[in-house]
Amino acid sequence: MEERKKVTIPDLYAMVERGEKITFLTAYDYPTALLEDRAGIDMILVGDSGVMCLLGHETTLPAKMDFMVEITAAVSRAAKRAFIVGDMPYMSYQPSDELAVRNAGRFISEGGADAVKLEGGARMAARVEAIVKAGIPVMGHIGLTPQAASLIGGLKAQGRSAQTAKQLVEDAKVLEEAGAFSILLEAIPARVAEVIVERARVPILSIGSGAACHGQLLIVHDILNLFEAFTPKFVKKYADVSSVMLKAFQEYISDVKSGLFPSKEHEYRIPKEEWQEFKRLMGM
Ligand code: KIV
Repeated sequence: MEERKKVTIPDLYAMVERGEKITFLTAYDYPTALLEDRAGIDMILVGDSGVMCLLGHETTLPAKMDFMVEITAAVSRAAKRAFIVGDMPYMSYQPSDELAVRNAGRFISEGGADAVKLEGGARMAARVEAIVKAGIPVMGHIGLTPQAASLIGGLKAQGRSAQTAKQLVEDAKVLEEAGAFSILLEAIPARVAEVIVERARVPILSIGSGAACHGQLLIVHDILNLFEAFTPKFVKKYADVSSVMLKAFQEYISDVKSGLFPSKEHEYRIPKEEWQEFKRLMGM
Protein backbone atom coordinates (compact mmCIF):
# COMPACT_ATOMS: atom_id res chain seq x y z
CA MET A 1 0.00 0.00 0.00
CA GLU A 2 1.17 3.56 -0.75
CA GLU A 3 2.94 5.29 2.18
CA ARG A 4 0.62 8.06 3.45
CA LYS A 5 2.72 10.68 5.19
CA LYS A 6 1.02 12.89 7.77
CA VAL A 7 0.42 16.48 6.61
CA THR A 8 2.36 18.94 8.80
CA ILE A 9 2.40 22.74 9.17
CA PRO A 10 5.57 22.99 7.00
CA ASP A 11 3.70 20.96 4.33
CA LEU A 12 0.82 23.47 4.45
CA TYR A 13 3.23 26.40 4.09
CA ALA A 14 4.97 24.60 1.20
CA MET A 15 1.62 24.17 -0.54
CA VAL A 16 0.97 27.91 -0.24
CA GLU A 17 4.47 28.60 -1.57
CA ARG A 18 3.94 26.52 -4.69
CA GLY A 19 0.39 27.78 -5.23
CA GLU A 20 -1.31 24.48 -4.47
CA LYS A 21 -4.72 24.96 -2.85
CA ILE A 22 -5.27 23.41 0.58
CA THR A 23 -8.38 21.23 0.88
CA PHE A 24 -10.26 21.27 4.16
CA LEU A 25 -13.50 19.58 5.30
CA THR A 26 -15.21 19.05 8.61
CA ALA A 27 -15.66 15.54 10.04
CA TYR A 28 -17.21 14.47 13.32
CA ASP A 29 -16.98 10.68 13.21
CA TYR A 30 -14.73 7.76 12.32
CA PRO A 31 -16.28 6.53 9.03
CA THR A 32 -16.52 10.02 7.51
CA ALA A 33 -12.95 10.89 8.49
CA LEU A 34 -11.75 7.56 7.07
CA LEU A 35 -13.27 8.35 3.66
CA GLU A 36 -12.09 11.98 3.62
CA ASP A 37 -8.56 10.82 4.46
CA ARG A 38 -8.72 8.08 1.83
CA ALA A 39 -9.87 10.68 -0.73
CA GLY A 40 -6.76 12.74 0.06
CA ILE A 41 -8.11 15.71 2.02
CA ASP A 42 -5.29 17.87 3.45
CA MET A 43 -6.99 19.09 6.63
CA ILE A 44 -9.96 18.05 8.74
CA LEU A 45 -11.79 20.37 11.12
CA VAL A 46 -13.61 18.66 13.95
CA GLY A 47 -15.99 21.58 14.16
CA ASP A 48 -18.35 22.53 16.95
CA SER A 49 -20.88 22.57 14.07
CA GLY A 50 -20.99 18.86 14.97
CA VAL A 51 -23.61 19.65 17.60
CA MET A 52 -25.83 21.06 14.84
CA CYS A 53 -25.10 18.41 12.19
CA LEU A 54 -25.09 15.39 14.52
CA LEU A 55 -27.18 16.37 17.51
CA GLY A 56 -29.77 18.70 15.98
CA HIS A 57 -28.96 21.81 18.02
CA GLU A 58 -29.87 25.15 16.43
CA THR A 59 -26.53 26.80 17.23
CA THR A 60 -23.00 25.70 18.12
CA LEU A 61 -23.26 27.11 21.64
CA PRO A 62 -24.25 23.87 23.40
CA ALA A 63 -21.01 22.11 22.33
CA LYS A 64 -19.10 20.76 25.35
CA MET A 65 -15.41 19.96 25.72
CA ASP A 66 -16.00 16.27 26.52
CA PHE A 67 -18.09 15.82 23.38
CA MET A 68 -15.59 17.70 21.20
CA VAL A 69 -12.62 15.73 22.55
CA GLU A 70 -14.43 12.40 22.09
CA ILE A 71 -15.33 13.08 18.45
CA THR A 72 -11.86 14.49 17.75
CA ALA A 73 -10.35 11.24 19.01
CA ALA A 74 -12.63 9.27 16.67
CA VAL A 75 -11.54 11.41 13.72
CA SER A 76 -7.86 11.06 14.70
CA ARG A 77 -8.15 7.26 14.85
CA ALA A 78 -9.46 7.31 11.28
CA ALA A 79 -7.42 10.00 9.54
CA LYS A 80 -3.77 9.10 9.45
CA ARG A 81 -2.71 11.59 6.77
CA ALA A 82 -4.85 14.72 7.16
CA PHE A 83 -3.85 17.53 9.52
CA ILE A 84 -6.52 17.57 12.23
CA VAL A 85 -7.84 20.75 13.82
CA GLY A 86 -9.98 20.58 16.96
CA ASP A 87 -12.54 23.36 17.29
CA MET A 88 -12.61 24.93 20.75
CA PRO A 89 -16.24 25.15 21.89
CA TYR A 90 -18.05 28.09 23.42
CA MET A 91 -16.64 29.11 26.83
CA SER A 92 -13.74 26.63 26.61
CA TYR A 93 -11.30 29.52 25.95
CA GLN A 94 -13.12 32.85 26.36
CA PRO A 95 -12.89 33.14 30.18
CA SER A 96 -9.09 33.02 30.66
CA ASP A 97 -5.71 32.18 29.15
CA GLU A 98 -5.27 29.35 31.62
CA LEU A 99 -8.58 27.69 30.75
CA ALA A 100 -7.80 28.13 27.07
CA VAL A 101 -4.41 26.40 27.41
CA ARG A 102 -5.84 23.52 29.49
CA ASN A 103 -8.66 22.87 27.04
CA ALA A 104 -6.44 23.22 23.98
CA GLY A 105 -4.17 20.65 25.61
CA ARG A 106 -7.07 18.19 25.89
CA PHE A 107 -7.63 18.36 22.13
CA ILE A 108 -4.00 17.37 21.63
CA SER A 109 -3.46 14.80 24.39
CA GLU A 110 -6.91 13.15 24.46
CA GLY A 111 -8.23 14.01 21.01
CA GLY A 112 -5.06 13.43 19.00
CA ALA A 113 -5.53 16.76 17.15
CA ASP A 114 -2.60 18.54 15.49
CA ALA A 115 -3.91 22.04 16.26
CA VAL A 116 -6.89 23.90 17.66
CA LYS A 117 -9.09 26.63 16.22
CA LEU A 118 -10.74 29.44 18.12
CA GLU A 119 -13.05 32.27 17.08
CA GLY A 120 -12.35 36.00 17.35
CA GLY A 121 -9.90 38.62 16.17
CA ALA A 122 -7.84 41.07 18.21
CA ARG A 123 -9.96 40.46 21.33
CA MET A 124 -8.73 36.83 21.34
CA ALA A 125 -5.05 37.58 20.61
CA ALA A 126 -3.98 36.92 24.21
CA ARG A 127 -5.60 33.46 24.11
CA VAL A 128 -3.86 32.62 20.83
CA GLU A 129 -0.53 33.74 22.25
CA ALA A 130 -0.99 31.75 25.48
CA ILE A 131 -1.90 28.52 23.65
CA VAL A 132 0.96 28.90 21.16
CA LYS A 133 3.35 29.53 24.07
CA ALA A 134 2.21 26.17 25.46
CA GLY A 135 3.41 24.61 22.21
CA ILE A 136 0.02 24.10 20.56
CA PRO A 137 -0.64 25.44 17.05
CA VAL A 138 -3.68 27.70 16.77
CA MET A 139 -5.83 28.54 13.77
CA GLY A 140 -7.59 31.90 14.06
CA HIS A 141 -11.18 32.31 12.81
CA ILE A 142 -12.64 35.70 11.90
CA GLY A 143 -15.59 37.05 9.92
CA LEU A 144 -18.77 35.18 10.69
CA THR A 145 -17.94 33.70 14.09
CA PRO A 146 -21.02 31.69 15.13
CA GLN A 147 -20.14 31.62 18.84
CA ALA A 148 -20.49 35.43 18.85
CA ALA A 149 -23.56 35.49 16.58
CA SER A 150 -25.49 37.78 18.90
CA LEU A 151 -22.61 40.26 19.11
CA ILE A 152 -22.08 40.40 15.34
CA GLY A 153 -25.77 40.75 14.46
CA GLY A 154 -26.61 37.14 13.59
CA LEU A 155 -25.34 34.42 11.30
CA LYS A 156 -24.63 36.68 8.33
CA ALA A 157 -21.72 37.75 6.12
CA GLN A 158 -19.29 40.13 7.80
CA GLY A 159 -16.99 42.91 6.56
CA ARG A 160 -19.41 44.45 4.08
CA SER A 161 -18.80 48.02 5.21
CA ALA A 162 -15.49 49.85 4.77
CA GLN A 163 -14.99 50.05 8.55
CA THR A 164 -15.73 46.39 9.30
CA ALA A 165 -13.62 45.28 6.31
CA LYS A 166 -10.69 47.32 7.68
CA GLN A 167 -11.26 45.75 11.10
CA LEU A 168 -11.01 42.26 9.54
CA VAL A 169 -7.69 43.12 7.86
CA GLU A 170 -6.39 44.37 11.22
CA ASP A 171 -7.73 41.34 13.10
CA ALA A 172 -5.95 38.98 10.69
CA LYS A 173 -2.66 40.82 11.27
CA VAL A 174 -3.07 40.77 15.05
CA LEU A 175 -3.80 37.03 15.04
CA GLU A 176 -0.79 36.38 12.81
CA GLU A 177 1.39 38.43 15.18
CA ALA A 178 -0.03 36.53 18.16
CA GLY A 179 1.35 33.34 16.58
CA ALA A 180 -1.61 31.81 14.72
CA PHE A 181 -0.22 29.34 12.15
CA SER A 182 -3.21 29.94 9.89
CA ILE A 183 -6.39 32.02 9.74
CA LEU A 184 -9.84 30.96 8.63
CA LEU A 185 -12.09 33.62 7.06
CA GLU A 186 -15.79 32.83 7.25
CA ALA A 187 -18.35 34.55 5.02
CA ILE A 188 -16.54 37.76 4.17
CA PRO A 189 -16.48 39.50 0.76
CA ALA A 190 -14.00 37.91 -1.65
CA ARG A 191 -12.35 41.30 -2.34
CA VAL A 192 -11.68 41.86 1.36
CA ALA A 193 -10.28 38.32 1.69
CA GLU A 194 -7.96 39.09 -1.23
CA VAL A 195 -6.45 42.02 0.69
CA ILE A 196 -5.93 39.80 3.74
CA VAL A 197 -4.26 37.12 1.59
CA GLU A 198 -1.94 39.70 -0.04
CA ARG A 199 -0.74 40.90 3.37
CA ALA A 200 -0.55 37.50 5.10
CA ARG A 201 2.50 35.49 5.99
CA VAL A 202 0.40 32.49 7.09
CA PRO A 203 -2.03 30.30 5.12
CA ILE A 204 -5.42 31.98 4.82
CA LEU A 205 -8.29 29.54 4.54
CA SER A 206 -11.78 30.31 3.39
CA ILE A 207 -15.25 29.14 4.17
CA GLY A 208 -17.38 31.33 1.96
CA SER A 209 -14.68 33.97 1.48
CA GLY A 210 -13.67 33.54 -2.14
CA ALA A 211 -11.12 31.91 -4.38
CA ALA A 212 -8.08 34.03 -3.54
CA CYS A 213 -7.57 32.22 -0.23
CA HIS A 214 -4.91 29.54 0.06
CA GLY A 215 -7.45 26.83 0.79
CA GLN A 216 -11.14 26.05 1.05
CA LEU A 217 -13.23 24.60 3.87
CA LEU A 218 -16.79 23.31 3.68
CA ILE A 219 -18.97 21.46 6.16
CA VAL A 220 -19.25 17.83 5.18
CA HIS A 221 -22.98 17.58 5.98
CA ASP A 222 -23.61 20.53 3.65
CA ILE A 223 -21.76 19.07 0.67
CA LEU A 224 -23.48 15.69 1.11
CA ASN A 225 -26.94 17.25 1.55
CA LEU A 226 -27.28 15.84 5.05
CA PHE A 227 -28.06 19.13 6.81
CA GLU A 228 -31.57 20.42 6.22
CA ALA A 229 -31.97 23.40 8.59
CA PHE A 230 -30.43 25.95 6.19
CA THR A 231 -27.91 26.16 3.34
CA PRO A 232 -25.48 29.09 3.29
CA LYS A 233 -24.92 30.82 -0.07
CA PHE A 234 -21.29 29.56 -0.22
CA VAL A 235 -22.17 25.86 -0.08
CA LYS A 236 -21.80 23.62 -3.12
CA LYS A 237 -23.53 20.26 -2.83
CA TYR A 238 -21.45 17.41 -4.22
CA ALA A 239 -23.77 14.49 -3.51
CA ASP A 240 -27.29 13.80 -2.34
CA VAL A 241 -26.49 11.27 0.36
CA SER A 242 -29.75 12.16 2.04
CA SER A 243 -31.79 10.61 -0.78
CA VAL A 244 -29.52 7.54 -0.89
CA MET A 245 -30.11 6.99 2.86
CA LEU A 246 -33.84 7.67 2.59
CA LYS A 247 -34.19 5.11 -0.22
CA ALA A 248 -32.23 2.49 1.75
CA PHE A 249 -34.39 3.05 4.87
CA GLN A 250 -37.60 2.81 2.81
CA GLU A 251 -36.45 -0.43 1.13
CA TYR A 252 -35.47 -1.95 4.50
CA ILE A 253 -38.86 -1.08 6.00
CA SER A 254 -40.63 -2.53 3.01
CA ASP A 255 -38.50 -5.74 3.06
CA VAL A 256 -39.14 -6.35 6.77
CA LYS A 257 -42.86 -5.66 6.45
CA SER A 258 -43.18 -7.96 3.45
CA GLY A 259 -40.97 -10.72 4.88
CA LEU A 260 -38.31 -10.34 2.16
CA PHE A 261 -35.74 -9.67 4.90
CA PRO A 262 -34.16 -11.62 6.52
CA SER A 263 -33.72 -14.47 4.07
CA LYS A 264 -31.87 -17.78 4.60
CA GLU A 265 -28.49 -16.20 3.78
CA HIS A 266 -28.79 -13.89 6.82
CA GLU A 267 -29.56 -16.69 9.32
CA TYR A 268 -27.16 -18.56 11.61
CA ARG A 269 -27.28 -22.38 11.61
CA ILE A 270 -27.10 -24.82 14.51
CA PRO A 271 -25.32 -28.16 13.74
CA LYS A 272 -27.77 -31.06 13.24
CA GLU A 273 -26.55 -33.08 16.29
CA GLU A 274 -26.83 -30.01 18.54
CA TRP A 275 -30.33 -29.40 17.28
CA GLN A 276 -31.31 -33.03 18.07
CA GLU A 277 -29.79 -32.72 21.54
CA PHE A 278 -31.49 -29.36 22.07
CA LYS A 279 -34.87 -30.93 21.16
CA ARG A 280 -34.22 -33.78 23.57
CA LEU A 281 -33.32 -31.31 26.37
CA MET A 282 -36.45 -29.30 25.68
CA GLY A 283 -38.66 -32.36 25.47
CA MET A 284 -39.68 -31.44 21.95
O1 KIV B 1 -17.67 24.40 13.57
C1 KIV B 1 -17.37 24.56 12.38
O2 KIV B 1 -17.58 23.73 11.52
C2 KIV B 1 -16.72 25.83 12.03
C3 KIV B 1 -16.78 26.22 10.60
C4 KIV B 1 -18.14 26.72 10.26
C5 KIV B 1 -15.76 27.22 10.30
O3 KIV B 1 -16.22 26.51 12.88
